[in-house]
Amino acid sequence: MASLPATQRAVAMAAKRAPYVELEVPVYPPAAGEVIVRVGWTASTPLDLHRADGGLLIPSYPRQAGGGGIAGTVMAVGSAGDLKSLAVGDRVMAFAFHGDKEANHQEYVTLPAYLVSRVPECLTLQEACTVPANLVTVFHTATADLELELPWPIPQGWTPKAADRPILVWGASSSVGIFAVQVLRHWGYRQVLAVSSRRHHDYLRRIGATACFDYTKPGVVESILGHVKDHAQGEPAVPSILDCIGSLDGTLLPLTEIAQRGTRVAIMLPVILKDATEDDEPEYEMDVAKCHADRWADGVILRGARTHHYLQDTKFEGQNVFFKQNLQPEIVPALLAERVVEPNKQRVVEGATMVERAQNALHLLRGKAVSGERLVWKVSL
Ligand SMILES: NC(=O)c1ccc[n+]([C@@H]2O[C@H](COP(=O)([O-])OP(=O)(O)OC[C@H]3O[C@@H](n4cnc5c(N)ncnc54)[C@H](OP(=O)(O)O)[C@@H]3O)[C@@H](O)[C@H]2O)c1
Repeated sequence: MASLPATQRAVAMAAKRAPYVELEVPVYPPAAGEVIVRVGWTASTPLDLHRADGGLLIPSYPRQAGGGGIAGTVMAVGSAGDLKSLAVGDRVMAFAFHGDKEANHQEYVTLPAYLVSRVPECLTLQEACTVPANLVTVFHTATADLELELPWPIPQGWTPKAADRPILVWGASSSVGIFAVQVLRHWGYRQVLAVSSRRHHDYLRRIGATACFDYTKPGVVESILGHVKDHAQGEPAVPSILDCIGSLDGTLLPLTEIAQRGTRVAIMLPVILKDATEDDEPEYEMDVAKCHADRWADGVILRGARTHHYLQDTKFEGQNVFFKQNLQPEIVPALLAERVVEPNKQRVVEGATMVERAQNALHLLRGKAVSGERLVWKVSL
């Protein structure tokens, strides 16, 4: 085991909407089944903004910043437990979300091996940190909320029962949406309808979208309904909808005009009632049943997606126990190595210190400057 410092620097929230601060925290020793990763790169995501400006799910301050994925090098492993054959020196990436020792915006993250993926040789750490959080999100939401089949490994000659049923991915150029399109295509879903601004349509078609629609243009709902009008009788025109954005008026409102009895709609939580700006606090809602309740057709099945439950969700118990043990250790690296899934494009956020880089990323998120890319920054210089 390499000799590690006793303490480390972490980016932390001092209070809601206060600038980030640097905190000195321990380098947490690994328990059985855990490893310590020296973080090379991390991603800043909308959840960082929801936490920093909205105080979302923050019980007390100061609180280490969560972050949206890490990539780095294994520095130490626990002396017992299931280490998923990880060893000191391995290049790894992880979606770890329980805070404190798992907080992402710090120099060393200590976490269970089942939350870790080896980085395939074809990827840099900068690319790798864009992947795990939202690739896991897609697997969890597609299976637990949309009840779509994603068996692993894919049996020879298998096709999904819903192969020809339209699946609408609204917000397809988001990080979640880009992974959703790639995963659904690979598992044999043949009607993946992608909604984004027009500049991303060529890319989305290349990675698997069957048809693309521009949400910035009037008439987008009519175009989508026109596209699916000949879909099987007796079923909703669009049986599955993945709302990758969760904006009360930006995405839920148009979706109330598309969803019909029997449509399952999985909405990325939180629902954003009011966006964060430099001058104003955001407002969020975690209960999708309270959002435009009077506008949804009877019989629409609304689900609020919460990937932080992917380890223990009981709805698909077998599936989720399987995902806990296999999703990050096996499936994520295999999909990258086989180039089934490519990482998000990266926008590198600069700054003299970790705190400055994290703060600059928040500024970009508040300004809605992120489009078809992930904000990433270096932790260890
Ligand atoms: N609850 C969960 O389990 C969970 C997990 C992951 C993410 N999330 C949440 O899901 C949301 C998305 O996360 P992300 O990291 O994927 O975001 P992101 O990549 O930062 O999202 C940016 C994208 O949003 C698109 N967009 C914005 N408004 C839109 C609208 N009205 N219609 C269609 N597209 C729109 C933009 O598209 P254009 O550039 O094409 O305009 C842009 O590409 C965040 O709120 C995040 O917190 C929740």
